[in-house]
Amino acid sequence: MTSFQSEKMQKTTFPLFILLLYRLTVPVYAHGQPESGGLSAAEKNKLESLMHAMTLGEKIGQLSLFTQGFEMTGPAGTFNLRQLIREGKAGGVFNAVGVDSIRAIQRIAVEESRLKIPLLFGLDVIHGYRTIYPIPLAQACTWDLPLIEQIERAAASEASAAGLNWTFAPMVDLARDPRWGRVAEGSGEDTWLGCRIAEARVKGFQGSGLRLANTLMACVKHYAAYGAAQAGRDYHTVDLSPVSLYEWYLPPYRAAVDAGAGSVMSSFNEINGVPATGNRWLLTDVLRKEWGFEGFVVSDWTSVNEMMNHGVAADTAGVARLAISAGLDMDMMSGAYMGSLERLVLDHAVSVPVIDSAVRRVLEAKFRLGLFDDPYRRCDPSREKTEILSKEKRALARQSAAESCVLLKNEGNILPVPSTVRRIAVIGPLGNSGADMMGCWSGQGRAEECVTLLDGIRTRTGNGTEVTFTRGCSVKGTGRSGFDSAVAAAMAADFVVMALGESEDMSGEAASRASLGLPGLQEELAERIVQTGKPVVVVLFNGRPLVLTRLASVVPALLEAWQGGTEAGNGIADVLFGEVNPSGKLTMCFPRSEGQVPVFYNAKPTGRPMDPAHPDEKYVSRYLDEANDPLFPFGFGLSYTTFSYSEMTASVTGNRITVQVRVANTGARDGEEAVQLYVRDRIATITRPVKELRGFQKVFLKKGESERITFTLTSDDLAFYHPDLRKYCEPGEFVLFAGGSSAEGLSVEVKTE
Ligand code: GLC
Repeated sequence: MTSFQSEKMQKTTFPLFILLLYRLTVPVYAHGQPESGGLSAAEKNKLESLMHAMTLGEKIGQLSLFTQGFEMTGPAGTFNLRQLIREGKAGGVFNAVGVDSIRAIQRIAVEESRLKIPLLFGLDVIHGYRTIYPIPLAQACTWDLPLIEQIERAAASEASAAGLNWTFAPMVDLARDPRWGRVAEGSGEDTWLGCRIAEARVKGFQGSGLRLANTLMACVKHYAAYGAAQAGRDYHTVDLSPVSLYEWYLPPYRAAVDAGAGSVMSSFNEINGVPATGNRWLLTDVLRKEWGFEGFVVSDWTSVNEMMNHGVAADTAGVARLAISAGLDMDMMSGAYMGSLERLVLDHAVSVPVIDSAVRRVLEAKFRLGLFDDPYRRCDPSREKTEILSKEKRALARQSAAESCVLLKNEGNILPVPSTVRRIAVIGPLGNSGADMMGCWSGQGRAEECVTLLDGIRTRTGNGTEVTFTRGCSVKGTGRSGFDSAVAAAMAADFVVMALGESEDMSGEAASRASLGLPGLQEELAERIVQTGKPVVVVLFNGRPLVLTRLASVVPALLEAWQGGTEAGNGIADVLFGEVNPSGKLTMCFPRSEGQVPVFYNAKPTGRPMDPAHPDEKYVSRYLDEANDPLFPFGFGLSYTTFSYSEMTASVTGNRITVQVRVANTGARDGEEAVQLYVRDRIATITRPVKELRGFQKVFLKKGESERITFTLTSDDLAFYHPDLRKYCEPGEFVLFAGGSSAEGLSVEVKTE
């Protein structure tokens, strides 16, 4: 390509012989499914012989997924899971854990069933298996892709040591609405960053190849646009324009598919009137035909049956037909496939080839996982002993808990805690709670194995410092009876560390909140403690952005610690006492009030943008009673040092824009800074956001050091979806921004041809 012509023109100028050469020299990737993950000729033969041997009931069995732990009751009566497996009528089991129990269940399938087809064993390994890492939203705030990949690699190594071969992760749903509790599971409000993190997670889970015992097959979810639930209410309606879907919501799923994810999970929600689980456009036209996905699609928990609630089918036969015809391969927990598909085939309402396509995809995944080579490959008790909760994993958990902390306020550099402090009061309902350190989807994590904030501070300060703990109030309650003892504890101390936020059950699935402030009387408690005049810092434990406007106005320091996992207390203590200089940056903004929601940095300018220089101008896009900008913006995070930006330049050469900016550590401590690059397309066929993240580099600078950072942008970085859903860039004027947040930094303009 010679310049920034629209890709439409470029597409017509690509000589055919180059295309053929490309095909011959580049590893043959079937859209993200590298050939090495494919099946050998012998395996393909075995698969076909199985297809030939299976009864229709056994085929449908491969398309049914049940949870371990209770006997299944469904529309066709009461199922005995073990008997189902014995009859070859289950393709996978989830929520079974541990080598012994998984080996015992797998034995039924591979030794007692007729065709001895091994089972998939899945679990929600969302941010760790037994060693729990920070919630995914917290990990995203590290802006450290290698670390995120390392975390998933460690999680996969641990979970596979317990017999598992499949995780229902990564969750990559774009989330712009903090009322939705599942923002905790994702990467926040930015599509581009969400794509990079999705890739890192899939690579971490699937490692060097799914035939290796220390890997898990990824399952990218929840496809699609589950995070756009109306009003932030879980499971609610999703209604988006095609351009919004393609521009903002679909790319992270595609990124995960292109990274080689072996499976996809359909979401509970409808999209523009059609439930995802029965949406042929979504599951077949986009996922398979446009993206070339070759893995299989599993429903979410009973989402097949729930299409009756959606009102698109009257009975289980109707939903089963809708789902299988749309391209939904495996039915999680509905029993609709088990109960209705055979009859539908006999009535010629569903064809055998449709069933066969789904079964092949499930069997291919099992071959790719090496399950036909050795169904017990991940059932090695010696690995279970060495991998689970190893000291290396605890060290990684501690590092990630520290790195995911975001310093939101530090007035007067009250942090790090001065080394002269000898009496510390830890006050607040989350100061000594192991369970709340893990947040939602905590897998096999155990509260008693978690390091609380109190534990972490006591371990770090040692015997020379008195560290007391007072709850002061509960997380959600309205009782003030603990206030006085909390005030007394503060008065008796030289320094106060408050531990406030949400309990672990207040985010994650089915945990939407209409009000986003600190629950209960926690803010009132904080004000009482601040009134003592003692130095007070607040450490926040929460699974979503909160409305902290009142709290931030009264406390001098705010450290967002999210739910940091098994080693949360140690990681946070490393930050509080300056062992680690905080470098986290928000990947989801914190609104000033619920009334602003949804508020996100990459919004459109509107025809009447508000000019911050003229805040009183009336006829512009604004509120009478609230600012437009959030309290803490996307990309924001302070450090114990300071960074400055200078010498920003940009130049266009052919189809590349080279951007340079100097960043200097102007403070008294070494530190890391996530240097962010944003782009604005000034004039285009359709309206474009005021800015969009298109690059970042996390740089470590010693105090006094500076570095010239270089970014390169290509036409792909500037391309966007047009109303005809073609994606290409348009030449013209662009503004480029570089800085330590979406809300501040330097800018330069460039013009492309
Ligand atoms: C749940 C969740 C999904 C999870 C699945 C299996 O309802 O929506 O994220 O993977 O069921 O536990």
